[in-house]
Amino acid sequence: MTNGTSTEQGDINATDQRRQYTDNLDEETRYWLEEDARYFLHQALSSPVMNVLSRTEGAYIYDLSGKKYLDLHGNGVHNAGFSNPLVAEAVVRQLTDKLAFTPRRYTNKPAIRLARKLTELTPPGLDRVLFCPGGSEAIEMALAIAKQITGRWKTLSFWDSYHGNGFQAASVGGEEHFSTGMGPMVPGAFHVEFPNYYRNPWGLTNETEVDELYLRQIKIILQRNPDMAAIIGEPISSTPVIPSGYFWQQVRELCDRQDIS
Ligand SMILES: Cc1ncc(COP(=O)(O)O)c(C=O)c1O
Repeated sequence: MTNGTSTEQGDINATDQRRQYTDNLDEETRYWLEEDARYFLHQALSSPVMNVLSRTEGAYIYDLSGKKYLDLHGNGVHNAGFSNPLVAEAVVRQLTDKLAFTPRRYTNKPAIRLARKLTELTPPGLDRVLFCPGGSEAIEMALAIAKQITGRWKTLSFWDSYHGNGFQAASVGGEEHFSTGMGPMVPGAFHVEFPNYYRNPWGLTNETEVDELYLRQIKIILQRNPDMAAIIGEPISSTPVIPSGYFWQQVRELCDRQDIS
């Protein structure tokens, strides 16, 4: 099986509608789905491959028959949109200008301009840039730098958070399916829960009271682990729990007090 009715991918939709969708795909699409299943390693947690795209534009994707879908997932293009003409033009310009890559030991003006722009857009203190290929690598580098700079090695992060699939990123991440079956993860990676305003063990609904109880867990861990290099968390988590501004402000203060990244 290669698509909606597949069991090797992370599909939880076993409804008749899903089967009907799959049954209605044309012959050419079915052929390419078979080819996809033959040559790609399908991942247990990945969304199922359900169709074949011919075009992407703005917020829309088009299948081989030209049918148009509004893409509500769009990982990686949320900000710019698919095939954004400004992005395409900049990429083409740089390729035709023959400045596609600069080996280390040299630099180039577009890269410096982009780095400068980023420091202008980010809050004071974030004034140096290091480019990397993706989110997981960014986390790996940030943790490596935090450990080198502080001379400490432990980290504190949050259950149910996602930081990527690199080994260190998965270690600070809090979703068990990214570490299950991997043996020991990076040592010294402590986790606490995000404050849950809707459903918490104390039955509390007052946001500040809830924050204080969750902050207490962090304080206890920090008191017992003075060798903490970094606290890392998603300001807005993909889980339904979104910590308050007050919570993050308090975490920042705790970090500053112990010189933690
Ligand atoms: C908060 C967060 N951190 C890290 C990552 C990992 O990024 P990448 O898939 O580019 O490695 C993601 C990806 O969704 C993310 O949402």
